[in-house]
Amino acid sequence: MDGASGGGGGGGGLAACPRRGRLRDRSRRCQPARLPDSRTRACSNIPEMLTILPPWFLCPQIDKYLYSMRLSDETLKDIMNRFRREMEDGLGHGTNPTATVKMLPTFVRSIPDGSEKGDFIALDLGGSNFRILRVKVTQDKKQPVQMESQVYETPDDIIHGSGTQVRALELFDHVAECLGDFMEKQKIKDKKLPVGFTFSFPCAQSNVLEYAAKTGKIILTWTKKFKASGVEGTDVVKLLNKAIKKRGDYEADIMAVVNDTVGTMMTCGFDDQRCEVGIIIGTGTNACYMEEMRHIDQVEGDEGRMCINTEWGAFGDDGSLEDLRTEFDREIDRGSINPGKQLFEKMASGMYMGELVRLILVKMAKEGLLFEGRITPELLTKGKIETKHVSAIEKTKEGLKKCMEILTRLGVEPSDEDCLAVQHVCTIVSFRSANLIAATLGGILSRLKENKGVARLRTTVGIDGSLYKMHPQYARRLHKMVRRLVPDSDVRFLLSESGSGKGAAMVTAWCLTCLKCMLLQKAFSFFLPRNRHFHET
Ligand code: GLC
Repeated sequence: MDGASGGGGGGGGLAACPRRGRLRDRSRRCQPARLPDSRTRACSNIPEMLTILPPWFLCPQIDKYLYSMRLSDETLKDIMNRFRREMEDGLGHGTNPTATVKMLPTFVRSIPDGSEKGDFIALDLGGSNFRILRVKVTQDKKQPVQMESQVYETPDDIIHGSGTQVRALELFDHVAECLGDFMEKQKIKDKKLPVGFTFSFPCAQSNVLEYAAKTGKIILTWTKKFKASGVEGTDVVKLLNKAIKKRGDYEADIMAVVNDTVGTMMTCGFDDQRCEVGIIIGTGTNACYMEEMRHIDQVEGDEGRMCINTEWGAFGDDGSLEDLRTEFDREIDRGSINPGKQLFEKMASGMYMGELVRLILVKMAKEGLLFEGRITPELLTKGKIETKHVSAIEKTKEGLKKCMEILTRLGVEPSDEDCLAVQHVCTIVSFRSANLIAATLGGILSRLKENKGVARLRTTVGIDGSLYKMHPQYARRLHKMVRRLVPDSDVRFLLSESGSGKGAAMVTAWCLTCLKCMLLQKAFSFFLPRNRHFHET
């Protein structure tokens, strides 16, 4: 393993490769009997074979081939330190304008304290699905949160929104239309429930009063697969309000717009008061955490803490990860809708993982290292290998059978050895993702530890996202590496059970209280010292 993590030692999805020399060398000593007439049948024998293979037989060629994707602990510690420097740049007054990791203040000053209650609508846009939820938060001990939700399709042409400005507004018209439909179905069209909007993109906001004014959430840039033109730099609350008003068949009160990381931290914080970090590992990846006010130059005041949306997906956009990016990462970037942007996200998140694997397989096949050099139009088609396929291939028991099915659908007529090799490629790519995220999360945790000035950090990380939830080995690998990188810590990883929608409701509840507080504050401002806000932790 050369001290590098992310190869064959990866646990349940362990891929053993019975080859020496060239990958297609048939003069191997320990080959499984090939059943030429039934590939699937042959594949079902592979797990037994795996158990008899000695560890030194682990795919040395693939490990060598993908050497640059296997990151040593030393490299990961280096990435962790690089990320810490980026965080400091994002927080600093002089360095923020040019920083790549934007460290956006969210004006959320505390995690839920359990006193939140109310009836809310939550919109969740920007992840794998567009969801609308009705969330009832009560003081009921047994079932404090009740939810009903519906997933709505968002057509690709609206997401990509190429063309004119008018077209860009279609996205918000679509959201308003779906909201109308949901309210109709819930029979609440005549009510004006508070709406929380989980909008999973980088948004800037200049102060907490804008929450009260229900505006001021300026989208900085689209990420992931969204690119509706004419929206960047505008106020998303205004756009949505305009779209709702244009319809005129219902009213809605958009109270809060939150990033999904913040929603996740708030959701988990409702159950565990120690939660002070929220991370998403899904279509995109990002994290937020509670930072000391005295370190946030962009916001006035030194007391208490505020949640910072790091937007770590942009880590590396200034070239700071160039030595770690491979030819495959560069190809992914070149073929993306936002070249040069979100480079860390492109190395680690679910939106790109399947495609990374496909690009590697194409190159290996072209070099005759896989599929006896067979290259089919399907294999050459972008998007034909998805991250869900990578997850299926790495399953402990049926992974190799799944691999055979997936590759057969691509028409490459895989052999058993091909399946083993492809499984190993998947392991290396997904392991690298878990390692990279462990490094950036390690950066946040070590900063929290330093901020608190404690010898041992005890904290909870709220976590969500399709890759983290669906991949059979991912969570375990991530937890293990985080503990290795930040040894003086007791980190609890808490899965956000109900997604970021519940979080939007939590922030909306928080916001309502905040609004009441601010009205009070305004009324009593005469008696309050300057720069003091309610809700400081
Ligand atoms: C992208 C977005 C970010 C979001 C993340 C996860 O990185 O820029 O705001 O939190 O995806 O959905």
